[in-house]
Amino acid sequence: MRYRPLGGTPLQVSVLALGCGNFGGIGSVPELFGRGDDRDTAFALMDAAREHGITLFDTANAYGGGTSEEWVGQWLASRRARADVVLTTKVRNRVGPHPADEGLSARHIREQIDASLRRLGTDRVDLYLAHAPDPRVPIDETLSAFDEQVRAGKVRYAGLSNYAGAELVAAAGAAASNGMTLANLQSGYSLLDRAAAGNFPLCAEHGIGFTAHSPLAGGWLSGKYRAGQPFPEGSRMTLRPEPYQQWRNADTYAAIGALDRMARDRGLALAALALAWVLTDPGVTGAVIGPRRPEQVAQAVAALDVTLTDDQRSALVARTSSR
Ligand SMILES: NC(=O)c1ccc[n+]([C@@H]2O[C@H](COP(=O)([O-])OP(=O)(O)OC[C@H]3O[C@@H](n4cnc5c(N)ncnc54)[C@H](OP(=O)(O)O)[C@@H]3O)[C@@H](O)[C@H]2O)c1
Repeated sequence: MRYRPLGGTPLQVSVLALGCGNFGGIGSVPELFGRGDDRDTAFALMDAAREHGITLFDTANAYGGGTSEEWVGQWLASRRARADVVLTTKVRNRVGPHPADEGLSARHIREQIDASLRRLGTDRVDLYLAHAPDPRVPIDETLSAFDEQVRAGKVRYAGLSNYAGAELVAAAGAAASNGMTLANLQSGYSLLDRAAAGNFPLCAEHGIGFTAHSPLAGGWLSGKYRAGQPFPEGSRMTLRPEPYQQWRNADTYAAIGALDRMARDRGLALAALALAWVLTDPGVTGAVIGPRRPEQVAQAVAALDVTLTDDQRSALVARTSSR
């Protein structure tokens, strides 16, 4: 495993982070609570991650309706592993039926950090992220509430997720003028979804580390989805297809086929090449992976050994650009 400081902070994190978004559900979607990985699988994935030196774990208050945080907390206690893990969780997505059960208001953040700490069985989260912008709440209110949690010792570093463009500029500017550190931006980034790269210069300027979630585009860059064939049973596209509809077209299938051939020419699985493309980006601190089985953790770790020159990286992008 390789380790790097997270943005401008002294916090060392593994370049691969274990995504816990499939534990007890598929992300924050209530209809899928109880689906995704069961507790035994979640524990096996966390064990495998630890064996491979992955120290950065990524969950959220809303994943699996709180089940993901609970299982991470139970695993940390049973393995006495809290000191070895850099724990990330998030706040913003809906956690209950009432209008106030979501968002980035100071009140909601105060309630939710305590709920997360309880489920995680710890007294401090290492990285606390705003899961997505909340246009109803001024950014100053959200950042002040995060700062309050840092000062209270409940949060080590604050950060953002899924912020881009003007919202990211506003958040970074407000943090700088309040003397507050934003340690991390976590957004989707993969060969099929490269828009987040537009934020890398701002992240570099402000010392914000960038972690890429969904580096395999939710599984599309594993090559498991083939034109004219049904989606494999139990795959993401059979459970939660909504975020990926833009890729259900002939151009994307052709691009994935071309990338797959390039991977095979190098003796690699497409998933390894696609992950390596993310990890070799100079704007990227690390990638939040979403393995479903322990051997997929090992496959992700193997991608760390894949070197790509700038020209090779550009050639991979060119294969996707006709889409
Ligand atoms: N901040 C946010 O808003 C946000 C959003 C999304 C994700 N995340 C975080 O990022 C993590 C990863 O996201 P993601 O699940 O979308 O990541 P991903 O790596 O793009 O996709 C994961 C999917 O790819 C397939 N897969 C994974 N490893 C594989 C391998 N070695 N070979 C073949 N297929 C493989 C599995 O598909 P099947 O399930 O179909 O088998 C798995 O569910 C989440 O757990 C969460 O912690 C954060």
